[in-house]
Amino acid sequence: MSRLAGQVALITGGGSGLGLAILRRFVAEGARIGVLERDAGRVEALNTEFPDAVVAVAGDVRSYDDNLRAVEAVLDRFDRLDCFIGNAAIWDHGASLVDRSGEDLDKGFDELFAINVKGYLLGAKAAAPALIASEGSIIFTLSNSAFYPGGGGPLYTASKHAGVGLVRQLAYELAPKVRVNAVAPSGMASDLRGAAALGQQDQKIMDSRSPDAIRAILPLQFFPEPDDFVGPYVMLASRQDNRTLSGVMINADCGLGIRGIRHVAGGMQL
Ligand SMILES: NC(=O)c1ccc[n+]([C@@H]2O[C@H](COP(=O)([O-])OP(=O)(O)OC[C@H]3O[C@@H](n4cnc5c(N)ncnc54)[C@H](O)[C@@H]3O)[C@@H](O)[C@H]2O)c1
Repeated sequence: MSRLAGQVALITGGGSGLGLAILRRFVAEGARIGVLERDAGRVEALNTEFPDAVVAVAGDVRSYDDNLRAVEAVLDRFDRLDCFIGNAAIWDHGASLVDRSGEDLDKGFDELFAINVKGYLLGAKAAAPALIASEGSIIFTLSNSAFYPGGGGPLYTASKHAGVGLVRQLAYELAPKVRVNAVAPSGMASDLRGAAALGQQDQKIMDSRSPDAIRAILPLQFFPEPDDFVGPYVMLASRQDNRTLSGVMINADCGLGIRGIRHVAGGMQL
């Protein structure tokens, strides 16, 4: 496996779940990886497990300085950057317009949009000079919630829809030098947490959903692991396999887009 031989990628939220699965596969494909991750224990674990192939930096995607530090760490160690993967995000556990107070929605919006949208924008900004120099690419992790309601509440769904706008605008602005695309997964087993402003910082996504319920609504009828989503990232990042895609959102949603989210009692039994 060497589809990414010689390439260098920077992943936000690479310490857990999907980001960690992407990291492991990219390393197996010959890439070297930078990580920006807010959990210091995960940062240490990555630097210990991959002393040569990974440089992980502790920081918050909401901070432009932290994004710049991560890019600088990658350039110092590996001397180039081919791919920026905006991936760190939080969920809202389906916090609804009707059930939540105005204050909750106000503060929850600020937190979710700062991480899920501003984090991608500031990461792209910090990485852009190096990506333009290498004629590389950007990949954002979106979600079925970038296209359909019912995979979260209005805060999460709107933040992932906003990611579609970022992909299209940045693909337009950064052409012809940088390809900008996204992968939009369905539900999976990960550590995805909720917003602190909504009191959900210790709540994991699988606390309120069951594998059986997810399997039941997906036309492909299996409960995916993070590993099941990494193939499209490899393809999009590969210089050989992707010369033509930019501004594209890959629906890696186990067929959900065929009929949308249906038969979900109360909207939140995912
Ligand atoms: N889990 C799902 O069901 C699901 C479904 C569709 C899309 N996604 C998307 O997948 C992506 C990855 O999420 P995951 O499910 O692997 O969750 P995860 O919580 O397992 O991994 C996310 C990582 O990002 C880090 N992080 C969170 N906020 C951060 C911040 N402000 N600054 C720096 N790092 C931060 C966390 O510490 C964690 O290590 C997200 O964009 C999420 O929206 C997840």
